[in-house]
Amino acid sequence: MLVSAKDMLQKAREGKYAVGQFNINNLEWTKAILLTAQENNSPVILGVSEGAAKYMCGFKTIVNMVEGMMEELNITVPVAVHLDHGSYDGAKKAMEAGFSSIMFDGSHYPIEENIAKTKEMVELAHAKGLSLEAEVGSIGGEEDGVVGAGEVADPAECKLIADLGIDMLAAGIGNIHGKYPENWAGLNFDALAAINNATGNMPLVLHGGTGIPAEMIQKAISLGVSKINVNTECQLAFADATRKYIEAGKDLEGKGFDPRKLLAPGFESIKTTVKEKMELFGSINKA
Ligand code: G3H
Ligand code: ZN
Repeated sequence: MLVSAKDMLQKAREGKYAVGQFNINNLEWTKAILLTAQENNSPVILGVSEGAAKYMCGFKTIVNMVEGMMEELNITVPVAVHLDHGSYDGAKKAMEAGFSSIMFDGSHYPIEENIAKTKEMVELAHAKGLSLEAEVGSIGGEEDGVVGAGEVADPAECKLIADLGIDMLAAGIGNIHGKYPENWAGLNFDALAAINNATGNMPLVLHGGTGIPAEMIQKAISLGVSKINVNTECQLAFADATRKYIEAGKDLEGKGFDPRKLLAPGFESIKTTVKEKMELFGSINKA
């Protein structure tokens, strides 16, 4: 059964570790992440952007795929299916389709509008027992058509949004979607500390988890980060492993062209990446 992310993140906040949100794109991604979570006894959040949902034939298909897989693979660790960077309409649709957790990303609206819309989303989500994530400031770069200016969040605005009763807060602290540029200034820990102080025990969410150095991840967790989103890193690992398979000519040997063989190295590379992140985030044996 899918669960909301609320309990797993409150436990993570108290236990000073973070739960990984790993974005899914298809069956291989989903299976690799679920199996890795089960093998490592870790809670896990499957992130789904609206673009990825469209690609996977809609929210209902995803809920049915994940629930079916959990039953067939005997997945017993806590699993949330979470809408990533949801729009106002998309969030409502994902709630109706059976997602167990929702991010409503109102960060591109003026703060008053972000507050009003987030308030409505909290009420809708909680009436169904779902967890709700909101965003203040913005994440730099682009993810699936969602473009952010990388604006560092204002702690006072974070408090206004946190006080609406959300379950987790994503705040811009210099983090960026996709690969970090060579001249990246790093995470803004002064801003994170101020946001953490302003929002009490709110589990904070670190987007743009790809390629952030281990020491920064650990410091972020010590300052209240309880959920870390990773997407690009699994995609890069998958592409790299698949390229190596093809460059070695393995698709031309025997039945190497069979997708069950062709996609296997990429599948294994996602498992390895997810396990490394779970170790770094400290979520292993926390199910
Ligand atoms: O919302 C998802 C993420 O923030 C993932 O970011 O692709 O940089 O790992 P990433
Ligand atoms: Zn994100």
